Amino acid sequence: MSQPQQATARPMFTDASRAGLIIREKEPANLEFPFPYLGSPVTPTNEFFVRTHFPLPAISAKDWTLTVDGEVERELILSYDDLLKLPATTAPVLLECAGNGRAQLVPKAKGLLWDTGAVGTAEWTGVPLSAVLEQAGIKKGAVDVILQGADKGEINDEPRAPGTIHFERSVPLAKAMKPEVLLAYQMNGKDLTQDHGFPVRAIVGGWYGMSSVKWLTHVTVTAATFEGYWQSLEYAYWRRERGRPTLTAVTEMLVKAQIARPALSELIPSGKPYRVFGAAWAGESEVTKVEVSTDGGKTWSEAKLLGNAAPFAWRLWEHEWAVPRTPGQYKLMARATDAKGQTQPGKHDHDRRTYMINFVFEVEAEVG
Ligand code: MTE
Repeated sequence: MSQPQQATARPMFTDASRAGLIIREKEPANLEFPFPYLGSPVTPTNEFFVRTHFPLPAISAKDWTLTVDGEVERELILSYDDLLKLPATTAPVLLECAGNGRAQLVPKAKGLLWDTGAVGTAEWTGVPLSAVLEQAGIKKGAVDVILQGADKGEINDEPRAPGTIHFERSVPLAKAMKPEVLLAYQMNGKDLTQDHGFPVRAIVGGWYGMSSVKWLTHVTVTAATFEGYWQSLEYAYWRRERGRPTLTAVTEMLVKAQIARPALSELIPSGKPYRVFGAAWAGESEVTKVEVSTDGGKTWSEAKLLGNAAPFAWRLWEHEWAVPRTPGQYKLMARATDAKGQTQPGKHDHDRRTYMINFVFEVEAEVG
């Protein structure tokens, strides 16, 4: 695993695909990356969070097919080999679960209580969805593209689903045709693992993770906007149109910075410089600024953005903190601003229900 740059030594792991992740739910597997261990701009596959709603489907590449149907001129059934023959691209793309940060909500929210580690950036290799849609030929009047996974089951908690359903989400045709939407078959240079959607998954750059459907088997083009379970009852929020709340599918990620170090309650030597370190991302936009406060939000200083900006990936950042000589508890905060001038709010907007959590978090560290 990548080594933290300023923390105590951590255990070594084998290459096993779930090494060191925190179990938020055992079955189905929901696993979180311990964010204070953030190291490299590309998250190793075995450190990448796992979010699943149903038991993992086991699909062999030999038996896998992708059906493309609905409002198309020619229905397609592609095999794994057919897909691999098409021109592919590789790009770092960040996935953040729409419920990342839910554990920080007060009062306590329903649902999986992710802290700050349901996020990661991997290098994905795949074929742009647009290439396959063009091959099928889109009919006039088509507006939406449903991406369906092989996994299915019943939802026995509220809100219930009508019997057995698949995991499926739609992407408007205009977004589906963008180059950042991939039919991905590799993650960090290797075949996808079962946890992350083997053999093929969608990657929808700039949007919350629920759109990046794993174990993808069906792509259906429709003439009306899809209103399935996973975008109307779940992964939906109250958007206000002239003040009137309308339940709307969660889509683009909001701008956000997270502090990896210091970790909660980390002991920091007084009177010496300390490197505050973290990551920031901005959905379809770009991070233009990260600011850090070490006094609970009274004053802010600009952090240094590291490396180069890559669209749809996160940007690591650092800030040298002149740690005071006075021992005690210090509240650290980070906030990002994107190229559209949008920045993070101070409080969670409850219209977003328990999704799209990008208010500025506090990390309490101990100077001693
Ligand atoms: N695709 C299928 N088929 N089934 C799922 O449960 N979960 C979604 C998405 N794709 C899911 C899915 C959610 S909510 C997220 S955040 C991402 O997968 C997480 O991708 P990862 O497990 O590779 O990190």
